[in-house]
Amino acid sequence: MSAAVSQTDSRTRPLRVVAIDGPAGAGKSTVARLLARKLGFDYLDTGAMYRAATWHALHSGIPMDSPDALTEAVASMDLRLEPGPEGMRVWVGDTEVTGVIRDPEITANIWRVDQVPGVRQVLVRWQRTFGETHDTVAEGRDMGTVVFPDAPCKIYMDATPECRAKRRAAELAAKGLAVDPDQVLREIVERDHKNMTRAVSPLRKAEDAVLLDTSDLPLDEVVARALAIARERLGIPA
Ligand code: DC
Repeated sequence: MSAAVSQTDSRTRPLRVVAIDGPAGAGKSTVARLLARKLGFDYLDTGAMYRAATWHALHSGIPMDSPDALTEAVASMDLRLEPGPEGMRVWVGDTEVTGVIRDPEITANIWRVDQVPGVRQVLVRWQRTFGETHDTVAEGRDMGTVVFPDAPCKIYMDATPECRAKRRAAELAAKGLAVDPDQVLREIVERDHKNMTRAVSPLRKAEDAVLLDTSDLPLDEVVARALAIARERLGIPA
């Protein structure tokens, strides 16, 4: 795996990571991307890595019920991440998968891959190396609890399931996909349940994370609050 981003930082410097966790639809990706831009940090979308792993497994005909086969496939996957204007661009081998990894088929199958301990080990190792060598805003489900337990800044973003479902439905509609709002809500609740109850790295707020409830806040206000938290925790003057 590789990341075509600045490789200038030394591994011995203190960790400069903003770890953002929370359930689907809380606004993590948009906020993390904007926050990274404002801080001059690199943005790491770890959900995209699990999505790419799922795409790769499905595309290569890997048996989705075999933890060993999934682990082997992910360990040998040629995953490449590059910063792009709308977030990270993602390649597996020569194929750009940035768009396709957002397809409903991938979203519906990720839980088969993201609960495999061997898969998580491979991806977590990669994520840690990235964070140790870049000033990073990392977002996912286990950034503050597992991947970067020593991150100086942790934010847990949350919103009501109804509010998150509304946002997700608007996103899908904007892509021209047909949406049934009730079904989107059911899927959000189901994904929450899977993320929060799985045996490995369940989604939960780290004790030292700041809770940011985005239910009733416009995007610019959420970004402003996240930026204030990050500056304060990292000691960066406004
Ligand atoms: O953030 P997202 O919706 O793109 O994430 C896709 C899935 O990947 C999500 O359902 C849970 C999983 N995931 C994970 O298990 N650990 C992470 N650090 C990030 C995502």
